[in-house]
Order: sequence, then C-alpha cells, then structure tokens
Amino acid sequence: MRKIDRKKIDEICISPASTIRQAMEVVDRGEIGAVFIVDDQTRSFLGLITDGDIRRAILKGGNLDTEIELVERPRTKTATEVMKTEEISEMFDGKVRIIPVLDLENKIVDIALYDQRIHLPVAEPSLGEKELSYVSDCIISNWISSTGKYVNKFESLFADYCGSRYAVATSNGTSALHLALLALGIHQGDEVIVPSLTFIATANAVTYTGAKPVFVDSEPETWNIDPNLIEEAISPKTKAIIPVHLYGHPADMDPILEIARSHNLAVIEDAAEAHGAEYKGKKVGGIGDIGIFSFYGNKIITTGEGGMIVTNNSDFAERIKLFRNHGMLPSKRYWHPVLGYNYRLTNIQAAIGVAQVERVESIIKAKLDIADRYEKQLGCVKGIICPPKAKWAKNVYWLYSILVEEEYGISRDELIKELSSMGIDTRPLFPPIHMQPIYNTGQNLEVAGGLASRGLSLPGSSGLQYHEVDRVCRAISTIQNRVINTR
Ligand SMILES: Cc1ncc(COP(=O)(O)O)c(C=O)c1O
Repeated sequence: MRKIDRKKIDEICISPASTIRQAMEVVDRGEIGAVFIVDDQTRSFLGLITDGDIRRAILKGGNLDTEIELVERPRTKTATEVMKTEEISEMFDGKVRIIPVLDLENKIVDIALYDQRIHLPVAEPSLGEKELSYVSDCIISNWISSTGKYVNKFESLFADYCGSRYAVATSNGTSALHLALLALGIHQGDEVIVPSLTFIATANAVTYTGAKPVFVDSEPETWNIDPNLIEEAISPKTKAIIPVHLYGHPADMDPILEIARSHNLAVIEDAAEAHGAEYKGKKVGGIGDIGIFSFYGNKIITTGEGGMIVTNNSDFAERIKLFRNHGMLPSKRYWHPVLGYNYRLTNIQAAIGVAQVERVESIIKAKLDIADRYEKQLGCVKGIICPPKAKWAKNVYWLYSILVEEEYGISRDELIKELSSMGIDTRPLFPPIHMQPIYNTGQNLEVAGGLASRGLSLPGSSGLQYHEVDRVCRAISTIQNRVINTR
C-alpha cells in the first residue's frame, strides 16, 4: 500500500457542482487517476470519481458540461484515521484501489493507494526517515569512517537487544565468524563442527583459520544441525561447534551446549539469519560462548554490509577488538602483537544499524504476520510443507522457506520457473556444503540433501503487503492444482 502526500490532497478535490470537464482537468493534473468530491463549506468527503467512471459516463451520452453529480459511480470504500495500515490494506480488492482515509468530521486526511508491483523480490531492506537522518548526521559531522558515535551506539544497543554484555561491530558476518574463531584460538590442525546445510561462509570462516570444518547432517524438524549426530563427529582435534539458526529458526541449543560442555568445546552461534529469534524464550546469539550476526542487505535488519559479535566474556571481546583493528594494541599505537585484520564497520553503516535496531521489533512483527498469512493459505495446499516451528522456538522467518513434495504435484525447480514467469522471485535452499566443489567430502548427508533439493524461499520482506502474500499463495495453489489435475 502506498500513501499520498497530504499536501496534494486538496489539489484533487472538487466541488459537487463541477462539470465533467473540470473533473477531467483535475484528474489530468493529479497522479492517482481520480478526483474526490467534497462539500464546499465543510470540506467533508462526498464521493470519489475515477477516470474510468468519467469514460463510462461519456460513453453513455454525457458530455464535458455534464455535472459530475450525474456521473454514476460505484460505492466507495473509506477508512478512518484510527485504523491500522494492515486493516486498510485488507480493504483493497480487484476493484477498490483508492481508499480515502477520513477524520471524525469526514474530512480526507490521507489517501491509501493499492500498490501493484509486478515483481516481488525474495528480500529487500526496510529503510526510512530514521536511517536517512542518522546517515545525514554522519555526513554533516564528517564522521564517516570507523570511529564515531554510531559505532559505539550500535554496539551497545545490539548487546542490550541480545541480552549480552559485549557487542563488537564488524565489516560483515563472515569476518565476525572469523574473529570469533580467532578469539577462541582456533588454528591449523583443529576441527570445528558445522551443519552442512548453511551458507558457505560458516565453513569458509573455519577454513580461513587453517582449521577443518566437519560437516554434520540436519534434523528434519528444524532443518538445523542434528544434535544426535554431533558426538560421532567429535575427534581429539575438535575445538568448537557452530550451530546455525537457519532461515531464522533457532537450533536446538540445550543438547548442543551439553555435548560441548562434556567435551570441553566452545560454541559459536551463527545467528547471521536470525536477529530476534528465541530459543526457549532467550534471544539467539547470546546463548553460546560467542554469537555472530550479519547485516547484509537481505537480512532481517541491515547496514548494507556489516556484522556483529556478541559475548558475555570480556577476554573474548577484547581479543576480537584487537584482531578487528589490525592486531593493534589499544594502549600503544601502531604496535601489533598479533596478526590482525581490518574488519571494522564504518560510522555510516552503524548509523543505519542504530536506526534498524530501533525499528527491529516492528520489522519482525511484520515478518511474523506475513508468515502467519502464508501458513494459513499454504498449509492446506497439497504437496507444500510450511517452514519449521518447534514448540520451544520463536522463528523469525528470515526467508519464508517451504518444501515441495514432488510426488504430489509439481517439482521444486518447475515451481521456481513458473513463479518467476509470474514476477515472483524465489530462491532454492542452500546446496549443502559437503557437496560444494571446494569441500566435496563424499559424505551422504541425506536430510540436508533432501531438504536442499525440495526447499525454496518465497518473498517475505517486512514491507511485503498482504495482497502480495495472497498473490504468491494463489499462484502456488493454482499451479499445484493444475499439475495435480493434469496427471
Ligand atoms: C548462516 C550465515 N552465516 C554467515 C553469513 C555471512 O554473512 P555476510 O554475508 O554478512 O558475510 C551468512 C550470510 O548470508 C549466513 O547466511
């Protein structure tokens, strides 16, 4: 739904005594293809005439001097200013595309317009006035590099958000993972246990340290690392486990932490995709020894590129800061006791991050509402399985991802193709890392392989409108029914 600038409302209001010619002139000058009829004295709303209504009136014998009062028009839907955006958005249908929003005196205070997007992306950022204002502040104040008030503010806001004592901002989620591993002292000859079904960065960061990623299969219930298979992957070289909260659904942390404790292993949570997700009521990222997040442009909240590390351990936090800044001692300039990196986040990126953290609850709420709407409609489509939702989990649906059971109808790849031809973007699930050319371990990890070959992510950004969710659901059920009926 799009709203129109309030200042422009008066320009598209006309008196009931106007003629079709006057109405056409106003329609022509305006940008919504319609005019509002308002009372000359009270300015209260009397009706709406679209260019289509005018065309039909002329075809029926009207002329330019006909009074608009005589133009036949369908009943207009109106909203009130106390209604929520979502409620107004629900009022649109195939015919109603313009809804005046009225105050208590029936005056137009806003206009809601149906926003027909042809192309629906899988994920897009939600950026607004706050982001613009904080970024402008960086530019006006000349603080655009990696020192500045927004970096500190972003770190402290994010630490609070995760319930962690320390947060360290980084250039991206991959560098955050790398720094977490360095802080734990992981190096050549070590092994680190990771799920195979995740984005490649989880394993690559391990490889950067010289250690070896050891891949474990997923559990079908959550698509995350299967805790029952971790123990058999542990060797004398194992130093850490990296559970990933895939697509926004938390991994089952209790058994993972128990195994880690009993084998003296560290736990790094890869929460790159799961800002705000909860495991048994606790925010992910702050559960293991160290947690990392990504703020890439398609993530739940974003800084364009960016990352964050959270921990309760002050030694880890200090070491991470040391490695992040070229290994330079904070107490002695240009003195480098360790090999460090430039993995810093800029003040401009952090400024966006501060605005995003301030809005994170409403962004997540919008994503949960979208997921709920998807589930209500897709839950009953044969051959479609909705994303996991363990009873102990708050899934934040980074990407709303479904499974397609080919035996009932269409295949995953065919569905992707058909949706694409309808302007609906999707993404296949990540191919498991044990099968990737650079790792190719020859393992047979059936669950990860099965999920990856059947799964796809649907459009699910926080800005997606309900009618757009409905469009995706209609498309999937129509395609699926057609395939089933032609078998
Ligand atoms: C699970 C996971 N880990 C790590 C990363 C790396 O984050 P970034 O792209 O910010 O480097 C991503 C990014 O998509 C991810 O999905």
